[in-house]
Amino acid sequence: MGNFITAVRPVSLFPGGDWLVYECQFDIHYFSDTLYSQWGIVCPPSVQQSVRSRRAEFLAGRYACQLALEALGLERWSVGIGPHRAPQWPPGVVGSISHDSSSALACVGFKREGVIGVGIDREPLIESDVAPRIASSIAKPDELERLDYRQWPFNKALTLIFSAKESFFKAAYPSVGRYLDFDAVRFAGFQKRGDLGECLALVLPQALASSLPSGSTHCGYFYRVRNCFTTGVLLLSDS
Ligand SMILES: CC(C)(COP(=O)(O)OP(=O)(O)OC[C@H]1O[C@@H](n2cnc3c(N)ncnc32)[C@H](O)[C@@H]1OP(=O)(O)O)[C@@H](O)C(=O)NCCC(=O)NCCS
Repeated sequence: MGNFITAVRPVSLFPGGDWLVYECQFDIHYFSDTLYSQWGIVCPPSVQQSVRSRRAEFLAGRYACQLALEALGLERWSVGIGPHRAPQWPPGVVGSISHDSSSALACVGFKREGVIGVGIDREPLIESDVAPRIASSIAKPDELERLDYRQWPFNKALTLIFSAKESFFKAAYPSVGRYLDFDAVRFAGFQKRGDLGECLALVLPQALASSLPSGSTHCGYFYRVRNCFTTGVLLLSDS
C-alpha cells in the first residue's frame, strides 16, 4: 500500500450481509501515478489528463473497489468508466463509489432478483452560511421541515438530504440512463428500523423507469463521522 493508503476498513452501511462496503483513507502527498500499474488499476485517458487530486481520488476509489470485489471473490477487476461517468462493474455485480479529498468508499454486491441498484455517497457538511443560499436547488421547504432542527441544524439537514439524493441518483442511473433533477426524489420523513435506528424514506413523485414507479418508497441509510455524512440507497423492486 505504501504510504498513500493510510487506513482501510469494512463499513456496515446496509442491513444484512449482502452488501460489502470498504472505506480507504488516503494521503494525497504520497500519491504517485506508478501506483496504478503496481496495483493493476487501469487509469482511463480522461483521468490521466486530469489534475493530481482527481488522479489520486480515482485511484483510492478503485483501490476500495478492488478490496470490495476481492471480498466478493472477484480478483483483480479494474472498474472502468461508462456513459455519464457511471462505473462499469463485472457482469453480475452492482456497486457504487464515492470519494472526498482524503477518503474513498466502494460498495458491491451480487445482482439478484429484486435488486434494482445501489448507490453510496459521502458529503462534507455544507457550511452554515452556504446552506440557505443553495437549499432551494436541493430540497423543497416541506422536505427540510420534516427534519427536527433541534437535532438537525439546517446545514446538517440539507447535507443529509443532498447526500441521500446523490446516492439515489447513483443507484437509479443504470435503470434511468440520464441525469436527474433534485426534485426527481423527495425526502418524506424517517422510517423506524426496529433496534437498528432509522432510515430516510425517499419517495418518487413520478415514475423514473418501469422498475421505479411513481409513489415507490426507498430507504436511505446513513451515518455521520466528524464533518461528513455517508449515505447509501438500496433500490429494491418491492418498495
Ligand atoms: C455524479 C454525481 C452524483 C457524483 O457525486 P459527487 O458527490 O460529485 O462525487 P462522489 O465522489 O460522491 O461520486 C463520484 C463517483 O460517482 C460515480 N458516478 C458518477 N456518475 C455516475 C452515474 N451516472 N451513475 C452512477 N454512478 C456514477 C462514479 O463512480 C464517480 O467516481 P469516479 O468518477 O471516480 O468513478 C454528481 O456529480 C452529479 O452529477 N449529480 C447530479 C445528479 C444528481 O445527483 N441528481 C440528484 C437527483 S436524485
